[in-house]
Amino acid sequence: MSAISIHPTDAALGAIIEGVDLSRVPNAGTIDTIESALEKHGVLIFPDQRISPAEQVAFSRALGPLEATANIDARLNGQPEIFVIGNTGVRPVSFAPQHGSEDLEWHTDHIHKPVPARASLLYGKEIPDTGGDTLFACLYSAYDALSPADKSKYETLEAVHSIEGLRAYLHKQAGEKGYEPGRQEAMPECVKWPLVRRHPTTGRRGLYFGAKVTVGITGWPREEGLRFISELTEHTTQPAFVYRHVWRKNDAVLWDNRRVLHAATPFDMSRQRRLMHRTTLRETTPIA
Ligand SMILES: [Fe+2]
Repeated sequence: MSAISIHPTDAALGAIIEGVDLSRVPNAGTIDTIESALEKHGVLIFPDQRISPAEQVAFSRALGPLEATANIDARLNGQPEIFVIGNTGVRPVSFAPQHGSEDLEWHTDHIHKPVPARASLLYGKEIPDTGGDTLFACLYSAYDALSPADKSKYETLEAVHSIEGLRAYLHKQAGEKGYEPGRQEAMPECVKWPLVRRHPTTGRRGLYFGAKVTVGITGWPREEGLRFISELTEHTTQPAFVYRHVWRKNDAVLWDNRRVLHAATPFDMSRQRRLMHRTTLRETTPIA
């Protein structure tokens, strides 16, 4: 008998999951429950988890094959499947803007890689008193709200994604002091995916792009493509489509990268510490 309970948020996405202990490798029944809840809600919150890096990796691996971050210096010593995100280390890795007036870095993990991320699991180890939230935007809702004419037009478009778009953003965030990316795995200059993606299990159509990592539309002049992506970001991240996760220490959050964009909000990096451990599930279904 399962004691798992699922409590949807009142936003377009998200459910709180109780009764799952992430320090244990889940059995087949628990995996089924988690996967179907992930399909239904897009973002799953597991509060108050006490997990070691090895336990996080073992739990994640039970859901599917994992992918290490391309940023070799951000892999945890001895547990390379853990991506260390935060401002506590020698070389901070943060995707949050430093000021509230700056654009958020809305993205879906690994869209710029030949094999993107199916899902990601982020564990909150140190949480700032204020800020450093994670916002999630529903790419189904964004697609559904388009006019029939835009739906038809977008079906024909192919978007171009590049790590360079992300680097340019990080450079801007780091200012004149510069941004030191550390050692990186080799990566193609860009990858291309259809702008409208069909979810392989739900069949739902959603937009598929990122605000900074998407650097153009195939066949369009560069500036026109960037302007279009900016407008699409505004449309997709309107409050009706967004769930805001305000972290508590020891929360673990699992999301479906096929369905959601996410972005971190600013926090006072000079005074506050934020430390998260991410495991990343590799995409297993080819994108049409
Ligand atoms: Fe991310």
